[in-house]
Amino acid sequence: MPDAVDAVDTPTPRRKPKPAKREIGGRPLKPSTLMMGHGYDPVLSEGSLKAPIFLTSTFAFESAAAGKRHFEGITGLREGGAEGLVYSRFNGPNQEILEDRLAVWDGAEDALTFSSGMTAICILMMAYASQNDVIVHSGPLYAASEGFVAKVLSRFGITYVDFPAGATREELDTVLAKAKAQADEQGGKVAMIYLESPANPTNALVDIEAVRDARDSALAGTPIAIDNTFLGPLWQRPLEHGADIVAYSLTKYVGGHSDLVAGSIAGAKRWMDPVRALRNTMGGIVDPNTAWMLLRSLETVELRMQRAGENAAKVCEFLRGHPKVEGLGYLGFIADARQQDIYARHCLGAGSTFSLFIKGGEAESFAFLDNLTIAKLAVSLGGTETLASHPASMTHLSVPHARKTMLGISDNLVRISIGIEDADDLIADFAQALEHV
Ligand SMILES: Cc1ncc(COP(=O)(O)O)c(C=O)c1O
Repeated sequence: MPDAVDAVDTPTPRRKPKPAKREIGGRPLKPSTLMMGHGYDPVLSEGSLKAPIFLTSTFAFESAAAGKRHFEGITGLREGGAEGLVYSRFNGPNQEILEDRLAVWDGAEDALTFSSGMTAICILMMAYASQNDVIVHSGPLYAASEGFVAKVLSRFGITYVDFPAGATREELDTVLAKAKAQADEQGGKVAMIYLESPANPTNALVDIEAVRDARDSALAGTPIAIDNTFLGPLWQRPLEHGADIVAYSLTKYVGGHSDLVAGSIAGAKRWMDPVRALRNTMGGIVDPNTAWMLLRSLETVELRMQRAGENAAKVCEFLRGHPKVEGLGYLGFIADARQQDIYARHCLGAGSTFSLFIKGGEAESFAFLDNLTIAKLAVSLGGTETLASHPASMTHLSVPHARKTMLGISDNLVRISIGIEDADDLIADFAQALEHV
């Protein structure tokens, strides 16, 4: 046991793992390799191959002096900040390993985890927006994100300007000029440009590079954040296209088994720090048990997403030519030239969540849904099992008719998230369910 003086001189009260090996002979190791061990040192946990679940609310200091040193770091009395674990509202071993591994996928310097995707998004926005500020966002957003901006942040004098997902550079220039004028008038600043691509539920893509260029010319220094839940972390890497912060509902593909709720953000440390500070104050960090489940999920995320993507391509190929099908909103079959151009520059795969337009209306859609035997009728996406839902009468029931029409959420729209079952079984199931339409 080090005595008090030794403890003060030891700069690592944090149970740091040994430095991770990130390359072999100049070859950077791939995320799929790093998911098995990155950020975890078995020596620190009795040799346990897998990280134990650290169910503790607080962490013991080795000495009073080590405790003092920690708090000097936190309060800024000592340079270099605080290292180490002190209280589970701030961090914990499972969460730190998870954050290290999530950062790997997006090529980010740092990551933060949260108890849900919405906790991540709300704390992110609150960390950057102050009274009288403006948030610029693409539209549509996931309904709760849109609601948080329009109905909650507005109570604190924060306004927004939104733009359609496919906006061009010229349109974006106009939007940012409007937002800047609005901020000037309110006596605030443009706090953040917030994107969601593909958008939920339309699958519309945002041109991240055009947003970055427009930001650089009009609003340098304003962070661009993007919700990458639908394609991340495998099929879209937004930090490489100009986004500063990437946000996730880990509940979806990353968790991937429809058995947990969690969220994350990732980006450069300087973008993470204000969010970490607010999370420290508010709480909202993912719990150790869920973090552990996510570590297990990350070991197979590439396999699962690849398989789901391949399945979706086969299923959509079948559905495309079916006489009872009016159309498909699948990123593998984009008809619009502008959207196709964004897809070609930004996306590495078409994903496995898409819209199926049945010939007919609500009755025909319900007949199809009620006759599916493999796919479960449930909201959410990105799990191992295939899910199907009817947005117009479920998730978007309360959306005004005009906005539903604008977003293309019609009565004949069925949303499908393809899982990792056998593709031919899924096709057989869709084929027999369509016979009932
Ligand atoms: C695109 C998108 N972002 C964020 C969320 C919210 O995530 P969570 O349910 O984990 O809070 C969802 C949930 O469906 C989503 O689809």
